[in-house]
Amino acid sequence: MERKAQESRKGLTHREVPRVVGLLLAMALMNVVLYLCFDRFFISPQHSTKDPRSCPYGYFKMGQMKNCSPWLSCEELRTEVRQLKRVGEGAVKRVFLSEWKERKVALSRLTSLEMRDDFLYGLQMLKSLQSKHIVTLLGYCEEDNTILTEYHPLGSLSNLEETLNLSKYQNVNTWQHRLQLAMDYVGVINYLHHSPLGTLVMCDSNDLPKTLSQYLLTSNFSIVANDLDALPLVNHSSGTFVKCGHRELHGDFIAPEQLWPYGEDIPFHDDLMPSYDEKIDIWKIPDVSSFLLGHVEGSDMVRFHLFDIHKACKSQNPAERPTAQDILDTYQKVLNLLRDTVMSQTREML
Ligand SMILES: Nc1ncnc2c1ncn2[C@@H]1O[C@H](COP(=O)(O)OP(=O)(O)OP(=O)(O)O)[C@@H](O)[C@H]1O
Ligand SMILES: *[C@@H]1O[C@H](CO)[C@@H](O)[C@H](O)[C@H]1NC(C)=O
Ligand SMILES: *[C@@H]1O[C@H](CO)[C@@H](O)[C@H](O)[C@H]1NC(C)=O
Ligand SMILES: *[C@@H]1O[C@H](CO)[C@@H](O)[C@H](O)[C@H]1NC(C)=O
Repeated sequence: MERKAQESRKGLTHREVPRVVGLLLAMALMNVVLYLCFDRFFISPQHSTKDPRSCPYGYFKMGQMKNCSPWLSCEELRTEVRQLKRVGEGAVKRVFLSEWKERKVALSRLTSLEMRDDFLYGLQMLKSLQSKHIVTLLGYCEEDNTILTEYHPLGSLSNLEETLNLSKYQNVNTWQHRLQLAMDYVGVINYLHHSPLGTLVMCDSNDLPKTLSQYLLTSNFSIVANDLDALPLVNHSSGTFVKCGHRELHGDFIAPEQLWPYGEDIPFHDDLMPSYDEKIDIWKIPDVSSFLLGHVEGSDMVRFHLFDIHKACKSQNPAERPTAQDILDTYQKVLNLLRDTVMSQTREML
């Protein structure tokens, strides 16, 4: 840029000089402003630090609420919550956008009594695991088989591509924000693996779309776990391991130890199927993270830097896979490294 400026100065008449100098000064000033701004742009926006844990057990806070409010009772759910429209449905719950005191909320209803045990287990988990990683519980009524949670208009992670494709979200459709989402996701898994109840495994995740549908994207572009119906407990010291369901599983999204190990000659039998631990969640992280990184400028550069840790996640031997914390640390290092690289490149350009 400097050389260009000098070259263009050669053939100038004396009259033109003050105008050009003014222009150059303006450009220099702009560069300084840009340079100062880059520091801000490349610091990732602070994710919501709003933490439902700041309320005691049995209370919640959401949005602009100043005080913690007790979970809504059956009576309050029946009289104060107005059901508006259905926004989702799974095997266990039918979810309705609803209104409570002029706030949007999500009312989940049990779909069928056969699923009641899963429904109640999920509710128990929601109650016990309230934190920034889990959707905020607002109330429940076991008698009516209803659960009230905070509503997230951007819906589940299944909608991520459509959401980030909208012009109003173009500014967050960057590798930085998408890597931050992957960190949020691994953060949730890490929380479940070290939860107040012990090591919990996210079983409802036999394929990528299913896995994505268990998490919600908040308006602040962070990720919370929503569906906790299939979250069994592993206890290494007592030798308690888990099985995700009682049926034979197929495909390469699930971890190899989830596959029937005895070949086609011996028919699948649940009693003979070995159990496994939380490392099945680790196996799935590269696929979920790769989805979250998407295909924007810089995604492949991030993938390249995550290659080794993701390869380790795919170790056939579960014990050789890293922990969620290891992965989180690596993601953070890569984020820092790439952010610094981009910043110094930008500075060189200026
Ligand atoms: N709080 C919420 N805000 C916005 N959308 C929601 C909310 N809760 C649920 N949904 C939508 O409803 C869908 C189904 O919810 P959920 O996963 O809880 O049902 P489920 O019956 O337990 O599903 P599964 O078949 O996986 O067990 C979600 O994938 C999501 O799209
Ligand atoms: C998003 O963040 C803002 C400010 O940090 C907070 O007031 C708001 O409640 C958050 N919204 C959600 C849905 O978490
Ligand atoms: C993104 O938007 C473009 C046009 O705006 C459309 O062609 C494309 O299919 C969209 N992609 C997704 C994943 O929605
Ligand atoms: C795991 O098992 C051990 C030994 O039986 C027990 O002492 C411990 O409380 C269990 N941990 C959890 C989280 O259940």
